[in-house]
Amino acid sequence: MSFKFPDSFLWGGATAANQIEGSHLRDGKGLSTSDVCPYGAFGEIVPRQAGDFNIKDLAIDFYHRYPEDIALFAEMGFTCLRLSIAWSRIFPNGDDAEPNEAGLTYYDKIFAELDKHGIQPLVTLSHYEMPLNLAEKYHGWASRDVIGFFEKYARVVFERYGHAVKLWLTFNEINVTLHEPFTGSGLPRDCDEQTRYQAIHHQLVASAKAVKACHEMIPDAKIGNMILGAIQYPFTCNPDDVMHTLTQNREWLMFGDVQARGYYPSYMTRKFKELGVEINITEDDREALKETIDFVSFSYYMSGCASADPNEQAKTEGNMLNMVANPYLKASEWGWQIDPVGLRYLLNFLYDRYQLPLFVVENGFGAKDVVNESGEIVDDYRIDYLNDHLFQLGEAIQDGVEVMGYTSWGPIDLVSASTAQLAKRYGYIYVDRNDDNQGTLDRIRKKSFYWYQSIIESQGEKLTPPKA
Ligand code: BG6
Repeated sequence: MSFKFPDSFLWGGATAANQIEGSHLRDGKGLSTSDVCPYGAFGEIVPRQAGDFNIKDLAIDFYHRYPEDIALFAEMGFTCLRLSIAWSRIFPNGDDAEPNEAGLTYYDKIFAELDKHGIQPLVTLSHYEMPLNLAEKYHGWASRDVIGFFEKYARVVFERYGHAVKLWLTFNEINVTLHEPFTGSGLPRDCDEQTRYQAIHHQLVASAKAVKACHEMIPDAKIGNMILGAIQYPFTCNPDDVMHTLTQNREWLMFGDVQARGYYPSYMTRKFKELGVEINITEDDREALKETIDFVSFSYYMSGCASADPNEQAKTEGNMLNMVANPYLKASEWGWQIDPVGLRYLLNFLYDRYQLPLFVVENGFGAKDVVNESGEIVDDYRIDYLNDHLFQLGEAIQDGVEVMGYTSWGPIDLVSASTAQLAKRYGYIYVDRNDDNQGTLDRIRKKSFYWYQSIIESQGEKLTPPKA
């Protein structure tokens, strides 16, 4: 590829506290909603008991090993690391009067270490978890009170880290409450649509309040939203399929529309009516929503299709999004369909819609890696996936889309969010730990480590056109 990515383009990887840190109760941390999901975000919720064990309690022990891991990221040439702050380290119960100083100190050390290596942090305020107490005592985001707790938390971390962190995101995949209400909003899984959309509304208001606080407190920072970019194509050119696809895409676009435009899109009026949902939106809420984001970020792993035909829908498999499979695409072992062109399409689609800078903050290939007899991990399948997606990202930039950066998911192996497996690996860095809790936790550079290093070093010039 003769094209070079812009000098300002940020290269790196993305992580989440509950999937890497471990130390789930250390230094005063409270339990989070993730800590009671030992089988992953969509698995059974299991109350904690003394002496029990969840793979995330140790995860990859980033809590202690961060200097080594950050040095490895720097060796690859990262200029950016996306990570999340565990809200329950700062406010162990969510409604505490004062923040937990030991939790704040931990992230001081992380940001100092990143600074030492010239890596810019991109920080998510809430990535698939909230203090468990808020879920138990307040029914999570169903309660309006949680808006205030979140705003307080956001203000505390902006005050503390504003000198070091200039890029922020509010909620990871804010649209996930539509698919998984406990992980997304601390709601019971069987909650009705009224509760679900009211909780989503509270989250949208809280997000806008955090955006406002960030603009006031760190004027030289930028803050964005984060959506699961679940783009769907019409399964056929039958107008019914095309119309159905528009409706399906609006389910997740609604979040970006509110956060980027400052008000609910008109199509939601009919949607709420059809669902029999009446959202309590106060005048203060409407005023708060007017504070809009500086950039749009999203995760992109796969695309899918939408069909108006219930028989086609029944054939769907592979992911929580229940999209109809695309016969032109291959899929990963977990059924996630691989569509690099979809990334270019989505970038263009979102830029046309919002005319705001975009940031690809998650993308990657989960696979079972094998350490060969020479102790190497030859992960050509991952290199192919990442090369093809980054190539298409380069095409989108040439299409005129403003893209701030790319942080691939799980630059170091981590615990899977959906299945709590370590066997589903995304990293450039292998971590010696297995699902049966065996392993030294040693880090090993995979073949993709050197590949990504060369891509960053060449500013994308070494990307190759996708193989036919
Ligand atoms: C995204 C989440 O949806 O997908 C991450 O934001 C998650 O937390 C990633 O890890 C990959 O999903 P999984 O289930 O393979 O870990």
